[in-house]
Formats: sequence, structure tokens, C-alpha cells
Amino acid sequence: MQSILIIGTGRLAFHLGHALKHNGLGLAGVAGRNAGRTAKLADKLGCGAFGLHGALPPAGMRVLAVSDDAIRAVAEALPKDGTPVIHLSGSNSLDLLQAHARRGVMWPMHSFGTGEPADFSTIPLVIDADDEATLALVRKVASTLSGHVVQLPMEQRQRLHLSAVMASNFPVFLLREASRLLTAHGIDATLLHPLWKTAAERALHDPDKAVTGPARRGDVNTMAKQLELLADEPELRRAYAALSKLILHTYHPETRGQQDL
Ligand SMILES: NC(=O)c1ccc[n+]([C@@H]2O[C@H](COP(=O)([O-])OP(=O)(O)OC[C@H]3O[C@@H](n4cnc5c(N)ncnc54)[C@H](OP(=O)(O)O)[C@@H]3O)[C@@H](O)[C@H]2O)c1
Repeated sequence: MQSILIIGTGRLAFHLGHALKHNGLGLAGVAGRNAGRTAKLADKLGCGAFGLHGALPPAGMRVLAVSDDAIRAVAEALPKDGTPVIHLSGSNSLDLLQAHARRGVMWPMHSFGTGEPADFSTIPLVIDADDEATLALVRKVASTLSGHVVQLPMEQRQRLHLSAVMASNFPVFLLREASRLLTAHGIDATLLHPLWKTAAERALHDPDKAVTGPARRGDVNTMAKQLELLADEPELRRAYAALSKLILHTYHPETRGQQDL
């Protein structure tokens, strides 16, 4: 297979670039709008650096590792020479790549930060393409990187993305907020960690049975006291009440229609 051009110099460009290299998939180069950042990443990956508006090297695939909002414009500015163009976004359709005859997506279902290059071998890669040849190409690249490749059409990708936000971003943000409250009151926030890890492990086994706490038990008095403790945190208080109500109504349907928390 011909080598791959990475477009973008951010987090996923960094992690994907290293994973492609690590797995022996050739890199045609890195292209970005910021010359310094582009040269730095290209140097780390041992390949050439290119601007977005100059000549690009020949490649078997161009991978758009740019912010979701920039995908369409960056794709439209690329040469329309039949080279397959793919994006990496879970929440966007292939329509953003309409300027190109061969288009696809390879969405890594993972949260990438900074630091050491991520190991892609266990990261689910959700792929799709508008034609069979491009799909085969994307599948080949994805399968070289990960043992967990699944093809899903746009509507299902959107549902999966929604579920990923609910199952990952929300609990992580709630841990952040819970830690912030403890720290503000001089209590060691790491006391939460064993509980969080055990809850996550149990939830993976059986999420329905893993739910515990006052709302699960229907313990309305405890919830009322906890809401009082959040008097100075109106937005968090509303979030606590909304989530508690959802849990209460799920496990105690007879409480539906009763007075709000
Ligand atoms: N990070 C994750 O956890 C994750 C997970 C799955 C999928 N993804 C997908 O991966 C893609 C890249 O995300 P990321 O996390 O790597 O983002 P990021 O770290 O914020 O990097 C975004 C990159 O896009 C470039 N960019 C933004 N606007 C541009 C424009 N108008 N023209 C040219 N370049 C532009 C930025 O260039 P500058 O450096 O010059 O600003 C930067 O190189 C997105 O589609 C995202 O949905 C990310």
C-alpha cells in the first residue's frame, strides 16, 4: 500500500502518526497550517513536512486529523486527484468530504491526551466509506492498527458517539466536580478513587445491577440533604437533581409524576 499523508498536527495526528509508523505503514508526510508545529511532528515521525496550500507528496491516502469544524474547508482545499481522503470524527458524516470522489472515516473510539503515543491495538476503530475500494483500503489500515475494527453507517456512528459521551465524558466530568468539592473543603479527593474504579469494573460487568446510591434506593430524605449541601452550586445542584430523578424514576417507576426533587 502507498504511504499515508497526515493532515493536522494536534493530538490525534501525533498518536495516529506514531501508530502508523509503529505498525510499519509508511508515512508520506505531515501537512499543517502552522509551519513550526508541522515541522516538529514530521521530525518526530521521521517524515517530510508540508504546508496546506503548496504541493503535497503522492500518497495512497490523506488522513484529515483536523478539528471537526475545519474538516470540510481543509478537504475542499486539497487537490481533487482521486486520492482517498478520510476523516477521524465520530460525529460527522462523509458529506464533509464531498469534494472528493473517494472518501471514508476511521474513528478511534478513545480519548487521546498528550504524553506517550497511544497503543492502538485495543482501541475500537469505527470505519465506513462511500465505495467498496475505499472501504477495503480503510479496513486494511484500521486492521493493521487495531484488532477491533467495526464498520457502521453514519446514523449508528452518531448513536455510538452519543453513547460514548454519556458513558465516558459525563462520569469523568462528575469525578472532576466531586474532586473539586472535596478539595474545596480540605478533604483528600483521592479517597474517591477506589470507589470509582470498583464502580467502573462492576458497571462493565452489568451496568443495570451496578447502580447504587440514594436515588437507586429511593432514599428521598438523603437526596434532599445532599441537595442542601449544593446550595452554593446551582448548576451542579440542578445536574444532581436531574440525574437523581432519572435514576429514581428508572428503578422506582411509581415515583413518576410525583413532586420534583
Ligand atoms: N482527541 C481525541 O480524543 C479524538 C478522539 C477521536 C477522534 N478525534 C478526531 O480527531 C480529529 C482531530 O482531533 P484532535 O483531538 O487531534 O484535535 P486537536 O488536538 O485540537 O488538533 C486539531 C488540529 O486541527 C488543525 N486545524 C484546526 N482548524 C484548522 C483549519 N481551519 N485549517 C487547518 N488546520 C486546522 C489544528 O491546527 P493548529 O495546530 O494550527 O491550530 C490542529 O493541528 C477530529 O476530527 C476529532 O473529532 C479526536
